Amino acid sequence: SKGNHRHYMLKEIYEQPIVVAQTLRAYLQRMEEKVTLPIPEFDLSAIKRVTIVACGTSYYAGMVAKYWFEQFARVPVDIDVASEFRYRAPVMEDGGLMIVISQSGETADTLAALRHARSEGQTIAAVVNVPTSTMAREADLLLPTHAGPEIGVASTKAFSCQLAVLAALAANLAKAKGKLDEAEERRIVRHLAEAPASLNAALAYDESIQTMAGVIAAARDVLYLGRGTDYPLALEGALKLKEISYIHAEGYAAGEMKHGPIALIDDAVPVIVIAPSGPLFDKTVSNMQEVQARGGKVVLISDYDGIQAAGDGCIATITMPKVHPLIAPLVYAVPVQLLAYHVAVAKGTDVDQPRNLAKSVTVE
Ligand code: M6R
Repeated sequence: SKGNHRHYMLKEIYEQPIVVAQTLRAYLQRMEEKVTLPIPEFDLSAIKRVTIVACGTSYYAGMVAKYWFEQFARVPVDIDVASEFRYRAPVMEDGGLMIVISQSGETADTLAALRHARSEGQTIAAVVNVPTSTMAREADLLLPTHAGPEIGVASTKAFSCQLAVLAALAANLAKAKGKLDEAEERRIVRHLAEAPASLNAALAYDESIQTMAGVIAAARDVLYLGRGTDYPLALEGALKLKEISYIHAEGYAAGEMKHGPIALIDDAVPVIVIAPSGPLFDKTVSNMQEVQARGGKVVLISDYDGIQAAGDGCIATITMPKVHPLIAPLVYAVPVQLLAYHVAVAKGTDVDQPRNLAKSVTVE
């Protein structure tokens, strides 16, 4: 049931601290401060490259994970949406790990990609939320997200749980390949273990996000900008907004703006900038200032320090807790989801059952 919540989507957004904690329990040994897999003896040491395939929000979780696999395990990563992957003659060498990511475990394109990769001799890992699904059954390594049933068509809690699993998988792969010393492993475990509390802190800004929803609801177009792991989040923010509010939205890598999209900017286009303080902050802020110089109305999502440094001149700011960059994508998913939710409610759309969409896409 929806409990006290008006929509399943809101209920599922609010479940994230609990379901992420539940998911992490299957991948972290808190006492020993070690990362682990549901099949602890599964050997990843021979994996030479990774291919990630998924659709929609699950694909954006995969885009975030690419940064982690490269950073921690130093393994090359190929990633594509499932509907493109199979039709471009992808090269899959021996020693490759195919990771499919799917809430339902039934998405037809992703399942077809899994089967194709299997026929090419890849080891198959499946990050899925429905444990009885076809993908779960066909994988060599089943990596469940423990998000519980997700009813809202817009994926929310499945996404944050996918990120939790993928971060733990990246650390496991790095460890198996001798790229992670014990101190680093401990640090990763500690940072991941902080995610549930930080998600809770992020949810506390729900009301302030609701207050600004009216401005976004009045817009015809909205842009989302981010760099690094915040770039996939920008894409995810735009997808969430378009699918439930029917407002045209695009996500861009912040540095790509000046290569074309900045021509769209005027005072009628709100621009949501996702920029936690950290190594990429200054670069993103300078892109944000280029937008402001052209009259763009910026909503900055950052932490206290980031907003102190760059919040002037924004039409609104959303303050997130200060978090380690590893868990920032999980935490910053919350304001992005809540903003889409409140805009959709303001527009009066059918939040849980948006037009033209199905929860599980079982046709290719
Ligand atoms: O069940 P899956 O994770 O394979 O579904 C993939 C997409 O259809 C799904 O994420 C879709 O993009 C959502 N409606 C986004 O909110």
